[in-house]
Amino acid sequence: MNFSYYNPTTIQFGEGQIKSIVNFIDKKQKVLVVYGGGSIKKNGVYEQVSKALEDYTWLEFGGIEPNPTVETLNKAVKLAKEDKIDFVLAVGGGSVIDGCKYIVASALYQNDAWDFLDGSASVQKALPMGAILTLPATGSESNNGAVVSKKATGEKRFFHSNLVFPKFAVLDPTTMSTLSDRQIANGLVDAFVHTCEQYITYPNSSLVHDGYAETLLKGLVSLADSWDNRNNPIWQENLMWIANQALNGLIGTGVPQDWATHMIGHELTAFYGIDHARSLAVVQPQLLRIMQDEKQEKLSQMGTNVFGIKDDNEAVIKKIENIYESIGVSTNLNDHNIDDQVISNITNALKSHGMVKMGEKGSITLEAVSQILTQAMK
Ligand code: NZQ
Ligand code: ZN
Repeated sequence: MNFSYYNPTTIQFGEGQIKSIVNFIDKKQKVLVVYGGGSIKKNGVYEQVSKALEDYTWLEFGGIEPNPTVETLNKAVKLAKEDKIDFVLAVGGGSVIDGCKYIVASALYQNDAWDFLDGSASVQKALPMGAILTLPATGSESNNGAVVSKKATGEKRFFHSNLVFPKFAVLDPTTMSTLSDRQIANGLVDAFVHTCEQYITYPNSSLVHDGYAETLLKGLVSLADSWDNRNNPIWQENLMWIANQALNGLIGTGVPQDWATHMIGHELTAFYGIDHARSLAVVQPQLLRIMQDEKQEKLSQMGTNVFGIKDDNEAVIKKIENIYESIGVSTNLNDHNIDDQVISNITNALKSHGMVKMGEKGSITLEAVSQILTQAMK
């Protein structure tokens, strides 16, 4: 093991924590509050934020869409530049938080900030930001990644920078009260796949990473098993904490990682508008089947340590599918609004984004992607 681990985000966890944001934002800073389509106005979050900021000068920018686009975000960037914003406060799910990461980096950049997404520039400076999370799923609230789309070209790309880590993240599970079953299920599946991307690879020497990943997976299995309790505060706080821990960098540091399910899933969302987690649920089980030989030791370890299944990797993959299906998330690509160009659309997009040797060993080729998608159309 040889790694450096950095995560500067302070987590403020629990009911009533929104008011604590004043401890992290200087009163002299001009704040831009950024949110999505309006859910925060239905669950009391907007009022709590307004109250906390009553002694501040602040502006707001609403309307960040799921899978945030540069077309919308650039309007917020313009506002941040013109009004000389000092601090950006993201209030929402992964899309709003990712959008704010783009905004804080772009506000101090003179050229077209898509450069960060197509890899032609890296972030050199950024405004400070904080996050108030309302949808546990992505882990974006305390990681350094952002996924941003461009309507004009139908692309969905990502960037990473330590400069866009939120200074703080408020995780108040009571904000989940207005979430639909669909969004709760999406969050559970996304967190499950994040853990798997950093775990179902090949054996490594780290007892800590494997042990913690297995704890997170077991937690998610138990939440899926107790799906009927999803409106119970203890259920919700567990999902919020597990989803955060699944992608705050810890379990992936110093171990092999896959992420091919995400790369394929992002293209499916870009072309067909499939919810992020639902794109993963159709890809991941088939990817595990196609890559079964390379992943056999970890699949078998997961079988033993997470599910109590011995020496039957197909049963492990079936169990994963059953978990998703049991909470209403389809594993069949044909349940989505696709067309007969799906395989060529996805493989061509991956090719143009340089994603031709994916996975922990670089062995997930475009041919493997074709097989995965073919099998996913059940
Ligand atoms: O826009 P509003 O009105 O807030 O409604 C949102 C949105 O319609 C709604 N919602 C959020 N909190 C709510 C709520 N509705 C009622 N009550 C609440 N408390 O949920 C809908 C979906 O929100 P979104 O933010 O899009 O969902 P999610 O958190 O799943 O984020 C998905 C985005 O994150 C990216 C995905 O690709 C996708 O663009 N990801 C970001 C990652 C990262 N930064 O590390 C990693 C992930 O793998 C992922 O790729
Ligand atoms: Zn994800």
